[in-house]
Amino acid sequence: MSIAVFASGSGSNFQALVEASRAEDWPEPIRLLVCDRPGARVLERAEKLGVPSLLVDPKEFSSKADYEAEILARLRREGIRRLVLAGYMRLIGPTLLDAYRWRIVNIHPSLLPAFPGKDAVGQALDYGVKWTGVTVHFVDEGMDTGPIIAQEPVRVDEGDDRASLTRKIQAVEHRLYPSVILDWISGRIKEPAGR
Ligand code: GAR
Repeated sequence: MSIAVFASGSGSNFQALVEASRAEDWPEPIRLLVCDRPGARVLERAEKLGVPSLLVDPKEFSSKADYEAEILARLRREGIRRLVLAGYMRLIGPTLLDAYRWRIVNIHPSLLPAFPGKDAVGQALDYGVKWTGVTVHFVDEGMDTGPIIAQEPVRVDEGDDRASLTRKIQAVEHRLYPSVILDWISGRIKEPAGR
C-alpha cells in the first residue's frame, strides 16, 4: 500500500509531500515519482530525496492509452494504491481513471471552478481578482472539475506580479497539500458518493 506522486515541473510540492511523509504518523509511504517530462527539475529532487522515479515520455507512445498502460504496469508492480498529482500538466485518461477511481487527487493554484487549466496564476492576475487561492480535489475525467476536498484563499495585493503571487500560493500549497493527503490516507476524507 503506497503512494505515487505525478509531476511535470519543478517539484516543490513533491518535495513538501516527501518531507512530510517522513514523519512518524504518516501511514502510507511515497514510493514512486512519475514524471512525463525529460529534464524536469522534479527528477533531480527525487534523486536527492531517495525516491525512485519513472520517467515516461508521452512522445514515445502512439496513444494516451498506451502511455498510461506503461505507467499502470509499473504502478501495479509496486503495489501503488493512490495517485497524488503535484503539478502534473496532463489530463488523466480512462486507463488510469478506471484503475484508480476516486484514488487520484490533484492540487490546483486557484479557487476552482475559477481559472481551471494552465496558468491559473496568470489568469487570476489578468482577470484582476482580489482573492485567489488553492484547491485540492478528487480527479475525474474533466479538466480540474472533480469533487473539491479543500480550499484556501490567498489575497492578491496591489503590486503583486506573477512571481510574488506564485510564491504566496505555493507557500499555502506546501502546507495544505501534505495535511490534506495525511487526512485522506488516514481515512478522514470519504470518497465522493453517488458520482
Ligand atoms: C503548483 O502550483 C500546482 O498547483 C500547479 O503547478 C504547480 C507545480 O509546482 N498545478 C497546476 O496548475 C495543475 N493544473 P511544483 O512543480 O513546484 O510543485
